[in-house]
Amino acid sequence: MPYIVKKKISGKHYYYLQKSVRDGNKVKSKMVAYLGKDLEKAKKKAEEIKNQLMDKKDKGERLTKLELKNISIEELASFCKRKGFVYPSGEIYGRLGGFFDFGPLGVELKNNIKNEWWRYHVIQREEVVGIDGSIITNPKVWEASGHIASFTEIAVKCKKCGYKTKIDKHELEKAKCEKCQGEYENKGIFNPMFTIQIGPIKEDSITAYLRPETAQLIFSNFKLIQENSRLQLPFGIAQIGKAFRNEISPREFLFRTREFEQMELEFFVNPKIKCHYIEEIKNICILIYDEKAQLENKEPKLMDVYEAYKKGIIKTDWHAYWIAKEYEWFVSLGANPNNFRVRQHKNDEKSHYSIETWDLEYLFPMGWRELQGFANRGNFDLSQHQKYSKTNLSIDDNGEKILPHVVCEPSLGVERAFLVFMLDNYFYDNIRQNIVLKLNPKLAPIKAAVFPIIKKLEYEEMAKKIAGGLKKEFNVVYDKSGSIGRRYSRNDEIGTPYCVTIDDKSPKNKDVTIRDRDTTEQIRVKIFNLKEILRKLINKEITFNKAGKNVKTRVK
Ligand code: GAP
Repeated sequence: MPYIVKKKISGKHYYYLQKSVRDGNKVKSKMVAYLGKDLEKAKKKAEEIKNQLMDKKDKGERLTKLELKNISIEELASFCKRKGFVYPSGEIYGRLGGFFDFGPLGVELKNNIKNEWWRYHVIQREEVVGIDGSIITNPKVWEASGHIASFTEIAVKCKKCGYKTKIDKHELEKAKCEKCQGEYENKGIFNPMFTIQIGPIKEDSITAYLRPETAQLIFSNFKLIQENSRLQLPFGIAQIGKAFRNEISPREFLFRTREFEQMELEFFVNPKIKCHYIEEIKNICILIYDEKAQLENKEPKLMDVYEAYKKGIIKTDWHAYWIAKEYEWFVSLGANPNNFRVRQHKNDEKSHYSIETWDLEYLFPMGWRELQGFANRGNFDLSQHQKYSKTNLSIDDNGEKILPHVVCEPSLGVERAFLVFMLDNYFYDNIRQNIVLKLNPKLAPIKAAVFPIIKKLEYEEMAKKIAGGLKKEFNVVYDKSGSIGRRYSRNDEIGTPYCVTIDDKSPKNKDVTIRDRDTTEQIRVKIFNLKEILRKLINKEITFNKAGKNVKTRVK
């Protein structure tokens, strides 16, 4: 049976639920869940989790990872602030709801996520190009796209507890307050676009908008991009950039903010032509929750995405292809595959431009939530812009003039991806008595920390020189303060995958040790080879044990 343990981290006490598991002939403790800082609340939460586990066991269901989360969203927010990942914006003046600043480690992780997304969607694909559109554009763009008239939500306030949120039109009659089950008061329809005035003289200024999605800059530049890059269907246009929504209830740390970044791909096709990459997605399995299962209150099913397309559950091949590819991207960068499912939007849930929408959902500590949207926008956007701008946007496809369709638009918030990689890689190591952030080395903010073990000028200078050489290629830090164990744990906590130490043998042998964050194993490598070995380790081109000579050590 799971049991509660108390742990001291950075001088504060936290409660965790653990269980004993057999590993060969040893019994080890395994983390089940984070329980918070308060013992009474921890006991209550532990009971709930134990009951959930029993329930699921009795029903023979596949265990979800809800009970296996190592950290709550509030704890993650405080960890991110403590370590320099994310700060509430303007905190010295009391913050501003829905806005966050990324600190020294956060900006690195965020840039690495964006770079990996760009590499996967643009650099590695022949038929995709990128753009960087402006945040403020001609307001006619938003008139044509339907955002001014139809990008609306209903604001509600709980009559009992005063909780404010937004709900879909179709929920208005039946929705109850998610905090206290009280009745909602309709506070009216609102449009989440931020308006601004362009021009400093009030009477001459015009009203414009901060873009609520990056996609429209792709549609409004579509013809130029296609001509400049000589693109032939099917092709994609990608963009990463800021988007703004005046959310009524920004909450849950980075999950719903008023300023965020989107990574969007508009993939243009001739709808009569089949997806010729469809075979690539065979054997990619994910939990699929279609509209029918939702309406009948059934559970999602673990299915091959390809099979889901063949059975007509996912209607188009392009949709199935991109859902599988995006899920594959997350998993390739170290996200836990058990924490994902795809859910079909019910008919009354779809956006004004969508024919069919699926969301890639992730099991956040607060439950299943949208991570990434996949809307089939058809040619709604291009035909609207064609109509409003009176510009012919059709292109030639093998002698036929067509207005291409965007059968699938993978649209992902950078901040939500940030949460996924933090949540899935945050572990408490019982032996080390320390947090270990097992980020994929490609995403890790700092790739290596370089330490002199001996506090003497000769070793310190050698370490500084090595760090300086590595810094030309990677984000590397030089660290000489505190005990070696303290330096390892400081780096484990922020996800640094490799620690390089200069020890008593280094000056004579011209070599160093590299310690692996996840296993604490160490190898010795020659200094002249160090940069190349680190490069290969980061890119997973070699395994750690094959990268150098194994070292026996007591310091973990
Ligand atoms: N172009 C399509 C579009 O914008 P969306 O479902 O409204 O579709 C796409 O947004 C993604 O942008 C979401 O799946 C989510 O990852 C992110 N996103 C949307 N609103 C957000 C918010 N207020 N805070 C953080 N991320 C948000």
